Amino acid sequence: MSSHPTASPRPKATLASLAEQKARHEPIVMVTAYDHPSAQIAEAAGVDIVLVGDSGAMTVLGYDSTVPVTVDEMLVLTSAARRGLTTPLLVADLPFGSYELSDEQAVATAQRFVKTTGCDAVKLERAGTTVDRVRAIVAAGIPVMGHVGLTPQTAVAIGGYRSQGRTADEALEVCRSALALQDAGCFAIVFEAIPSDVTDAVMPRMQIPVIGIGAGPGTDGQVLVFHDLLGIYDGRPAKFVKRYADLRSAMIDGVSAYADDVRSGGYPQPEHGYAMAPEESARLQELLDEEP
Ligand code: KIV
Repeated sequence: MSSHPTASPRPKATLASLAEQKARHEPIVMVTAYDHPSAQIAEAAGVDIVLVGDSGAMTVLGYDSTVPVTVDEMLVLTSAARRGLTTPLLVADLPFGSYELSDEQAVATAQRFVKTTGCDAVKLERAGTTVDRVRAIVAAGIPVMGHVGLTPQTAVAIGGYRSQGRTADEALEVCRSALALQDAGCFAIVFEAIPSDVTDAVMPRMQIPVIGIGAGPGTDGQVLVFHDLLGIYDGRPAKFVKRYADLRSAMIDGVSAYADDVRSGGYPQPEHGYAMAPEESARLQELLDEEP
């Protein structure tokens, strides 16, 4: 029996309920998920938003950055997560190269995600030309989440995986980007890896929910990558990651114990097998003996 009581039923998260949470100063909880079991875990834990992040390129597909992941790969991950969710809002990351070219490309990709996977919203990175893409997707009736600060899809161009907005001029650019995405119609926005001073300076102007990851405590909510927070991913975690479990060790221990058991003959035991009535077993032997 599970040691975790089923969380009391929560109403389905909507754009309106998230805006109300912000208004009530009730923190919004977002986590990534990339498949059916991780989505079911997020559902059972009662989070508000599940993001099928393109971080899945690294955490579950083994790429060394988020850049190579394809639309088709993200569609598979998002559809699997959808099947594990009822209550949280499901947001899918549009992968690098799938929305930058034109408004038409961005709308077509966003529509493909919604139609194929049943996600509720899509997320795009950075401002610049993305602001127009957001406007086009929102005009097509699909909710969009923005993402500023450290934007991993363009990490090379912004100087690597490092915090953004550490000088006043750089910070002003981050703030302008956030405000432009808000004006373009984003229903929410991610602030990634920026000093909390920058967050605090711009928050009074943010009317949409702001979800932080390495952006300090002043946002309306927080997001962490599933594999980072549960300690499944075997890499050096970013400064902002807090590990709540060490599942990788537990998983290695479990699989090693199984391997030891198989090698020593400890598994399987009779209780793991299927029984046959003795007379059927004897008859089988006779039948086999008659075989050529
Ligand atoms: O891809 C991702 O997981 C993300 C979150 C870190 C916000 O974009």
